[in-house]
Amino acid sequence: MCGIIAYSGGRNGAALIIDGLKKLEYRGYDSAGLAYGAYGKINILKAVGKVNNLEELVLKNKVNSACLIGHTRWATHGKPSKENSHPHTGQPGAVALVHNGIIENYLELKQKLTAKGHKFKSQTDSEVAAHLIEENLKRTLSFPAAFEAAVKQLKGAYALVAMYNREPGVLMAAKKQSPLVLGIGKGEYFLASDVPAFLQHTKRAVFLEDGDIACIIPRGYKITAADGGPAKRKIHTIAWDNTSAQKCGYKHFMLKEIFDQPQAVEDTLRTLPNDIKKSFGISARRAKEIKGIYLVACGTAYHAALAAKYFLEHFAKLPVEADTASEFKYRDVNFQKDWLFCAVSQSGETADTLAALLNAKKAGLRTLGVCNVLGSAITRASDFTVYTRCGPEISVASTKAFTSQLTVLYALSLQLGFARGALSKPQFNELYKELLRLPALLAAALKKQEQVKKTARGIFRKKSFIFLGRNACFPLALEGALKLKEVSYLHAEGFPAGEIKHGPIAVIERGTPVFALAPKGFLEGKILSSCQEVSARGAMLILLTNDAAQNGLLLPRVSEYLFPVIAAVPLQLFAYYIAAFNGCDIDRPRNLAKSVTVE
Ligand code: AGP
Repeated sequence: MCGIIAYSGGRNGAALIIDGLKKLEYRGYDSAGLAYGAYGKINILKAVGKVNNLEELVLKNKVNSACLIGHTRWATHGKPSKENSHPHTGQPGAVALVHNGIIENYLELKQKLTAKGHKFKSQTDSEVAAHLIEENLKRTLSFPAAFEAAVKQLKGAYALVAMYNREPGVLMAAKKQSPLVLGIGKGEYFLASDVPAFLQHTKRAVFLEDGDIACIIPRGYKITAADGGPAKRKIHTIAWDNTSAQKCGYKHFMLKEIFDQPQAVEDTLRTLPNDIKKSFGISARRAKEIKGIYLVACGTAYHAALAAKYFLEHFAKLPVEADTASEFKYRDVNFQKDWLFCAVSQSGETADTLAALLNAKKAGLRTLGVCNVLGSAITRASDFTVYTRCGPEISVASTKAFTSQLTVLYALSLQLGFARGALSKPQFNELYKELLRLPALLAAALKKQEQVKKTARGIFRKKSFIFLGRNACFPLALEGALKLKEVSYLHAEGFPAGEIKHGPIAVIERGTPVFALAPKGFLEGKILSSCQEVSARGAMLILLTNDAAQNGLLLPRVSEYLFPVIAAVPLQLFAYYIAAFNGCDIDRPRNLAKSVTVE
């Protein structure tokens, strides 16, 4: 939820820190700052607002340093301000530090340090860590030892990177629950919250684990594990090329990622062979023993989980509980031991989802992660992880990860259904063959771009939008509303279509745009009745259908339960164009961050 990028090597790193921060702005951007070592001193520059403001300061100060730490912030403790932006220094200011996460015991530590004469400049929890290190340096000359002793006193979630003016070129880093990746270049090293920050300089990455402490020195690095011993961490070669993390000519990452979906789903399907053990880590025997499934996630990922509830109940004939992680975590759940727990997350770092997953693990449930980021916390906490292979999703509004999650969960439903005998071989083969056509079906749905854009131009000045769906399309109504809210800041709400008459219809006025998802199928008549109810009250009905007999946005013919995946595309495009016509900052919407790594 904040972005960290640090560099230690043989060249002036100022420009690459700024460039790295720009690539991390999607993680939060209410302020930014950097610290750089020069001639035995640590200098700090900070700016409120976007990274461009910091860049101006760097150019004005002609920063030239081979050891720097940078940070872009999404406020959790203390309002967005220069004082609260990172890096923070301790007292007397020999150590500079950047932090992503929440130090839960910072008040207690702050009191103890204040009693020892420390004066704090900010309201943040992070500053405490810098003072702790400097307090420890009074007792030891070793920066690594002082850093490690400070980390041991912290409770909560943190990715920390610190530098010390007496040890030029040395970076100390610690990781617990917040992401931190080490980039290994030729004689130079990077530390970052996420790979895109250093991808153009190196594709070699080490994903630090919880409890790891990394020491970067100009000639190498050392990672110590939580138990104090040397940590053997795999060096991954990142498949993403630098362009895949760029916009490829689209005006916004969101539009690029909407159009990435056919490829994203194709890449995801490629890793889902028709073998439930290989695809989902579930043996044929275990598939028969599973008595139910918990599906837990947040935001858009929750909408994918909710849609999967309908897929699994229909194809696998299994009871399913789909819940938002923030609610599930505190429900008095009497876990059913023979249920599978599935956490769905694009970033793999969402604190609420991770906490719910850890609760399930503690209760002894087998856990399955559906995630997009290699080496992220949820993937490491899950017994088995299925990856959505959609590459970096940069835009705060999740699109290609969503349809990739639906693809994985639809495949799980079919494979579980077949393994449990709920689907015959011919039924399974036919349904799986259709699933493999999904990339082409999404490409066909994308061809409706101009029709969606034209409709959006007619309604972008409206102030309230309603979305209706039934069965597996109800979660898509919720997702269509969330997408629109996120990027346009307009009021939008999704309802089960059958519910509209039980109250919400009161908000319908003449001209209120109502999106209705009405695929050809067993509920088509029901949804069309709801459409009549709202039209009778003057609503402007926008039908998303695959029934050529209807007067709406015509999408490809697919079976009932695959329609929601196709319908996601026009809903995403509506949100995009309504926001674009309103001149919104689509990739960096106000108040939001790409990954919410705090509760
Ligand atoms: C989606 O457009 C939002 N950015 C947000 O709801 C997001 O889906 C949610 O925070 C969950 O994130 P995750 O998938 O990384 O866990």
